[in-house]
Amino acid sequence: MPGFPEVPGANGAGVLSIALIGPDQERRKAVAGALAGCQGVLIREFSSYPAGLVDLTQMMEQHYDVIMVDLDSEPKRALQVVESICNDGSRIVMAFSAQADRELVVRCMHAGAREFLALPLAAADMADALARVTVRRPGAGPANSTAGKLFVFLGAKGGCGVTTVASNFAVSLAQESGRKTLLIDLGLPLGDVAIHLGIVADHSTDNAFRDSSRLDASFLSSLLVTHSSGLSVLAAPGDFPQTEASVETVDKLLAVARQNFDYVVVDAGSRLDLKDSALFDASAAFYLIVQVGVSELRNANRMISRFFAARDCELQIVLNRYAPRALPFDEQHIARALTRPAQWRIPNDVSIARHTRNTDTPLALNDSPLSIAIRQMAREACGLPEKLEKKKGFSLFGRAL
Ligand SMILES: Nc1ncnc2c1ncn2[C@@H]1O[C@H](COP(=O)(O)OP(=O)(O)OP(=O)(O)O)[C@@H](O)[C@H]1O
Ligand SMILES: [Mg+2]
Repeated sequence: MPGFPEVPGANGAGVLSIALIGPDQERRKAVAGALAGCQGVLIREFSSYPAGLVDLTQMMEQHYDVIMVDLDSEPKRALQVVESICNDGSRIVMAFSAQADRELVVRCMHAGAREFLALPLAAADMADALARVTVRRPGAGPANSTAGKLFVFLGAKGGCGVTTVASNFAVSLAQESGRKTLLIDLGLPLGDVAIHLGIVADHSTDNAFRDSSRLDASFLSSLLVTHSSGLSVLAAPGDFPQTEASVETVDKLLAVARQNFDYVVVDAGSRLDLKDSALFDASAAFYLIVQVGVSELRNANRMISRFFAARDCELQIVLNRYAPRALPFDEQHIARALTRPAQWRIPNDVSIARHTRNTDTPLALNDSPLSIAIRQMAREACGLPEKLEKKKGFSLFGRAL
């Protein structure tokens, strides 16, 4: 792969410099054609993905405002390229594909791509997409492009397993990605993330909300406990809190958290009262935890229709305690009730209660079917390929096919 020479005058001259990476000539030309209809862009085409870290590093040394990557030629490789470039934080990555594959879109957004361009693409649509990324261009405004990714776990009903799934997901995410990960327990008034993880927390979200004017990186870090997995945790208060969380204080907490962590996972319980806060930011990835029962599916249907149908955000549905043989409904009924198919299935794990109370090793760190399913969720969330693990007898769980 050739180096990525600097495009003269691209930076700071009101011109957007674009590297277009696509092994497939036809798709590359389709994108270049749409770009040609836009003003103020300089395009450099590359006919192969960077061969390795060295090529990529070489590329990062050069200046490009936007890097467009073809996802279809080699999706796994393309996603790695997207993620590696996004990790640097100084460039905008847009991905393009001729396949309307929802899973690929989700994975590419998790890898950090700012826009997904579905081919064929008109010049006007390309111009709109460029206008959006220009607003979010590093240095063009608030540091949104470097904000940590937000993962919000919500329950269709109390007790459906939000804390179990969110806390094990956060541990897996910290371990698998090796990146700075924070778990915030907003399952107020008495969230129990700390109990699930077997940790003792001296401080909690209540401290953050009570003193929100002081909330900055160092105050936040003084409130955290580090779990043995490396995960940082902001626990919920162990008693009824003195201060109710307001939209403003939640916004501030999330802003500070996202500035200081690569990944922020929130156990939001069933807190729809925060729907106007940054918790429901369009850039967040939402996981709705549902158990298959009449009232749970009805609640889930209402939540999806009311809060997610009209929003341009990622929503993944997780069927928890999934036991296909014991279900009163078949898959089609479930998908109809949820208005869409579920993405994940977590088995009913009878050893979970004993395990949770007796050890500070979260299930995520062992090899139970529940752990394997949640680990798979976490790996996908941070753009890692699926790990081949022994799923003997449990192939029904994990990502739904
Ligand atoms: N997949 C599972 N298999 C077996 N037990 C589970 C599973 N998921 C959750 N549980 C159990 O169900 C109970 C409720 O789980 P959890 O506390 O995670 O739910 P929640 O939605 O956070 O509840 P709350 O509304 O009280 O916050 C716990 O005893 C937990 O151990
Ligand atoms: Mg809970």
